Amino acid sequence: MSALYRWINSEIGFVVTPETQGNIQQALVETAYHMGVTTEELTQGLLSNQIAPAPFIERVVTNESFFFRYQSQMTCVINDVVQPMIKKGKTPRILSLPCAAGEEAFSFAMLSQSNGVNLDNIRIFGVDISTQCIQKAQSGIYTEYDFRRTSAEYQQRYFTAIGDKRYQLSDRIRRSVEFYAHNIFNGLDKVSASFDVIFFNNLLIYLDEAHTRDALNILRKHLSPDGWMIVDSTEAPRCREVFASQVLGDFFVFRHKEIVTESKKKNHGLKAKPSSISRQSISKQSISKQPMPRWEPPQSTNDKKAELLRQAKAAADDKHYSKAISLYQRFQTEFPSDALKALYALGQLYANQGQDLHAMETAEQALVENDKKAAINSLSKKEQADLHAILALGLRSKGLRDAAQQELSKVLSLYPQHPLGKIYHQEDER
Ligand SMILES: C[S@@+](CC[C@H](N)C(=O)[O-])C[C@H]1O[C@@H](n2cnc3c(N)ncnc32)[C@H](O)[C@@H]1O
Repeated sequence: MSALYRWINSEIGFVVTPETQGNIQQALVETAYHMGVTTEELTQGLLSNQIAPAPFIERVVTNESFFFRYQSQMTCVINDVVQPMIKKGKTPRILSLPCAAGEEAFSFAMLSQSNGVNLDNIRIFGVDISTQCIQKAQSGIYTEYDFRRTSAEYQQRYFTAIGDKRYQLSDRIRRSVEFYAHNIFNGLDKVSASFDVIFFNNLLIYLDEAHTRDALNILRKHLSPDGWMIVDSTEAPRCREVFASQVLGDFFVFRHKEIVTESKKKNHGLKAKPSSISRQSISKQSISKQPMPRWEPPQSTNDKKAELLRQAKAAADDKHYSKAISLYQRFQTEFPSDALKALYALGQLYANQGQDLHAMETAEQALVENDKKAAINSLSKKEQADLHAILALGLRSKGLRDAAQQELSKVLSLYPQHPLGKIYHQEDER
């Protein structure tokens, strides 16, 4: 079996773990049954390149996806990237990779049209290794289950029931996406040389370090010089080696490092606009549950800053976390160019409250902003280590052990006596 696991790894970069071995075994049995061969014959055929890998690989990969999974990021890309490009007379090229059965690419098409984009003015591409998925995407026929996260409004507007609880996607949307069955590691050249926006969600989680780097380098080659790459927040930390992150609207996205460095030079200091992390949290968690803490502004700006920070810290020390979060968010909004320390504190507060995703996004944002800062106002090594620790713990809770380990190494190189080192060490000993 281990030869087969190595073969899977070299073909698609997947790491076979004790938890996934059962699935591989099942994929092997099912494929062998459908091909009318024994599992040994299938294994030998795959290893010696005498049996085409696709039917087996189809069963190994996870095709979980659903419509509108990344609705707010997509809307932001449509308004802030796609529309301005069209206004300049360009035709934006959008790639969804891996696209599974087209849910992501079609969501982008539906949202584009709903936001006033003429679909003739953009090109959308969907690429996935699974031929079955690509065939389903091309047919545009979906089941009730595929709509588990789709609003009734979109379902009614774009799909028609065709019996047996199946639904046909409107012809206009279906025709707006070009689909290709390719492996990211050897097929993207056949699709297009460059894309302005790449949605690259939920593939890195399965890949080992070497394949992660390969995949990112392939995308770097295919991302247009001023293009944008959107990655699920749990996978984002793995992209930093190859790309640089930048705030787009309310989200972190990735771009070529040179572009981000250039825009940093033009735009010293923090962005004036507070991130969605804070705004979402204000609206959903803090303000709705408890009134904004009263705060009387003193005379000078410096006094005002110091007083707000003092109140926020006191609230955190007293374990009044929602109040502390509100105050730090308020600081962030009122003093955006000084918001780094507030971001740092917010990362810690979200982590303390078990809001892993918020904590990771905020830690990531703080680290990016810290890179932009002149040494004078930047975070201390211990503070940077704390932020990497948040990323390490978040990644580990998602089972991304390699990525978590990389973050732990950063924690310990920045601050060797960090308590996280001890926790890992104790766990390793158990
Ligand atoms: C979990 S789905 C993600 C779909 C979509 N991006 C999303 O986030 O909803 C993962 C997809 O990756 C595809 N895949 C796995 N390895 C691949 C590879 N080497 N090249 C292209 N696609 C791959 C699988 O076929 C599967 O459809």
